[in-house]
Amino acid sequence: TASEIEAQKRAAAEAAALLVEDGMKVGLGTGSTVAYLLPALAERALREVRYVSTSPRTEEAARALGLAVEPFALAELDIAIDGTDQVTPGNWLIKGGGGAHTRERLVAAAARRFVVIASADKPVQRLRAPLPLELHAFGLEATLARLPEATLRAGTPRSPDGGVIADLHEPIDDPAALAARLDATPGVVDHGLFPPSMVHDVLIAGTTGVEHRRT
Ligand code: A5P
Repeated sequence: TASEIEAQKRAAAEAAALLVEDGMKVGLGTGSTVAYLLPALAERALREVRYVSTSPRTEEAARALGLAVEPFALAELDIAIDGTDQVTPGNWLIKGGGGAHTRERLVAAAARRFVVIASADKPVQRLRAPLPLELHAFGLEATLARLPEATLRAGTPRSPDGGVIADLHEPIDDPAALAARLDATPGVVDHGLFPPSMVHDVLIAGTTGVEHRRT
């Protein structure tokens, strides 16, 4: 039920908050699961933790709770914690349902430890469309012509960096090959595919507690 899923999001977020220690540089993800992480971190009253955020939404919520958010001008983070839309048994992710995937990938890639928090509705056997994209506004029509299966997201939202949020409706048989193709497509700023090599921990809450996968 919806309330069970909310309880699972909270449980996964609270388990992840315990991984943060005094003095760490911490990346904060975006979404409804991360919304439970922020108060859990505030409650821990950690010392000298420096936070960077993947979205204006998270930044505002974190600041309101007294967390010290600074611009992302750090070469490395100790840990980053974020939700996901899908996670496979092999720890491939699709993210970007909230449109924050480009900044989320930048923050996750800078983290020595990237921790994914998920409710029991997030595990999937195989990744499935839609795959969130961010496209350069410049030359958008030409980029869309290269990606016939892409659609602009309703309301044509922009990322905080000016990119246009879109979704790719293609079967995802080989995520590594698709990621490589998108990485090589002019006009694609980034996409929501996160390979297992970027993921260090997956915390999945279920009816019997939080499963901790270390990858
Ligand atoms: C934001 O762009 C997304 O990547 C979110 O992190 C992802 O959609 C998970 O969001 P929820 O925690 O709200 O499911």
